[in-house]
Amino acid sequence: MSKDLHTGFDETIYPYINKGLDGVVAFSTTKSFIDGQAGELIYEGYNIDVLAENSSFEEVCFLLWNDRLPNQEELDDLTHKLQTRRGLPQVVIDYLHAVDKESNPMSVLRTATSMLSQTDIHLPDDSYYEKAINITAKLPTIIAAFSRIRSGQEMVMPKETGSTAFNFLYMLNGEEPGTQAEKTLDLCLILHAEHGMNASTFTCRTVAGTLSDLYSAVTGAIGALKGPLHGGANTAVMKMLMELEAQGKDADAVAFTKDKLAKKEKIMGFGHRVYKTFDPRARHLQKMAQSLSEETGHEELYRWSMDMLTTMKNEKNIDPNVDFFSATVYYSMGIQPDLYTCIFTMSRISGWAGHYMEQMANNRLVRPRALYVGQKNQDYPPIESR
Ligand code: CMC
Repeated sequence: MSKDLHTGFDETIYPYINKGLDGVVAFSTTKSFIDGQAGELIYEGYNIDVLAENSSFEEVCFLLWNDRLPNQEELDDLTHKLQTRRGLPQVVIDYLHAVDKESNPMSVLRTATSMLSQTDIHLPDDSYYEKAINITAKLPTIIAAFSRIRSGQEMVMPKETGSTAFNFLYMLNGEEPGTQAEKTLDLCLILHAEHGMNASTFTCRTVAGTLSDLYSAVTGAIGALKGPLHGGANTAVMKMLMELEAQGKDADAVAFTKDKLAKKEKIMGFGHRVYKTFDPRARHLQKMAQSLSEETGHEELYRWSMDMLTTMKNEKNIDPNVDFFSATVYYSMGIQPDLYTCIFTMSRISGWAGHYMEQMANNRLVRPRALYVGQKNQDYPPIESR
């Protein structure tokens, strides 16, 4: 008898499951709002297009952690803290040298993030804000350091000046980026910062709901983001474009897409649980992808992307999501494809930390039910007769 006397919930007669929690509202939030029909995204009341035009990643962090925009003094203070906390503890540097160079960078980032918790053992349990700054400051350093160490280069120590975007590109390449590259990456970080109750944010809030620490919540979230149906899609998009590249500049992206659809394969970077129209973030990334692919002499990447876009619209009426054009943007910036999801992570930490704080301010343990579809009251056979 599985009827819950307190709630009246009966696991034996519960009528249906919303597979993938489709349409289920699990939390309330001020962090972001998505209008999937209109293709609109809002962070804390501000349209993503307005933020893309006017804001910076650092300002978006403040917005998501304080539910309001900062004044100049507050922005300077947060920026300074982010700049001066970029260094990694020796134990993490040692790990980055010791780990197998073939490891997936997201797996390395996940483990290194978990290790970072040791740097904050002196902080009270509820200093979420300070911990959020520490993790946000250090993720780009981990990613850039692993990228260099795995290819036999020296790690570049962070500068205590400049934006997150500037410093990441500096640590990655060993030389200061130009203004355009910095602005492009900063815009990518703004666009990826926050996005409703996606799988990694749900993971983060579920871990927070047990009153576990921010590092555990972020480590879990990174694990969720890594999957190709979520943040891992940007690397998977590049893999598709490289398959086309291997066929030569005249490769037929329409036939390529139709062939995959005929084989019932997913076209990465397309489709979304919430958007039933063009993802507003993809519009910004599309513009960047077009100009960057022209500038770098990789026009075919954009041409193939547009052919895939038209084919997906014609064949399935499915639009691109944030991951589709971001692949071409990062590729044009000379970033290695398996780092794309890590860049997503160094932005999305801002949204995860905002949700963690929101959950802690009004917590209840996250504990749904499962519909039991197994057998009951089976005879227990002795091991020798099984
Ligand atoms: N390529 C081909 N068919 C697709 C695609 C796609 N990318 N996306 C959805 N469909 C089809 C799917 O086959 C299904 O068709 P049918 O009803 O005939 O079986 C229908 O559309 C519904 O798809 P679904 O997979 O049940 O939808 P979902 O809401 O469960 O999944 C999704 C959403 C994002 C996982 C899915 O669209 C997908 O797998 N896309 C490719 C991976 C991807 O780009 N992920 C990044 C998501 S956005 C960034 C992020 O949040 O990280």
